[in-house]
Amino acid sequence: MKRIVIFASGSGSNAENIHHQFANENIEIVAIFCNNEKAGVIERANRLNISLHLFNRNDFNNTNIVDQEILSYHPDLIVLAGFLWKIPERLIVLFPNKIINIHPALLPKYGGKGMYGHFVHDAVINAKETKSGITIHYVNEHYDEGKYIFQAECEVTSNDTPETLADKIHQLEFAHFPQIIKKIIQ
Ligand code: GAR
Repeated sequence: MKRIVIFASGSGSNAENIHHQFANENIEIVAIFCNNEKAGVIERANRLNISLHLFNRNDFNNTNIVDQEILSYHPDLIVLAGFLWKIPERLIVLFPNKIINIHPALLPKYGGKGMYGHFVHDAVINAKETKSGITIHYVNEHYDEGKYIFQAECEVTSNDTPETLADKIHQLEFAHFPQIIKKIIQ
């Protein structure tokens, strides 16, 4: 059995999709780590019976509490699925080439600090882009700059709003993220 640990800060729809896609596979989400006590992912973790770890910024940045908790699961891969804090260098050193992120745009455009969720979609629409998409990449010590693993595109039309674009992006994420995780982990 391959073991995945997920980090999420928000709704957690990607985490739930990954869980369902792997229901009949040799891959399991063994824990979800969350930095936001109001996040929707908490209800999902409870409903899906997945261990949940909540942590604060001090624990994450200045102690090894979270590191030890992650290590206790012996993960094959750490997946950032809508996780909004920068990963400390300490964790990147501890888990070399084992942390991946999904970003809701075609990097290198629309990445970096503060570029997450609807901020990305607002920026893409304001710039009148005709396409957007997703980027799955390894995580290094800079926001959204690790080696790319996979990109997929969708059209952006003049009728799109940040909400309709977010829906399109989620559909791409649901279709591709589990498949890419499976490829990497096997
Ligand atoms: C996803 O669209 C993901 O790409 C994005 O947050 C959303 C989380 O949705 N991640 C970032 O913006 C990271 N910079 P979810 O909580 O429903 O899975």
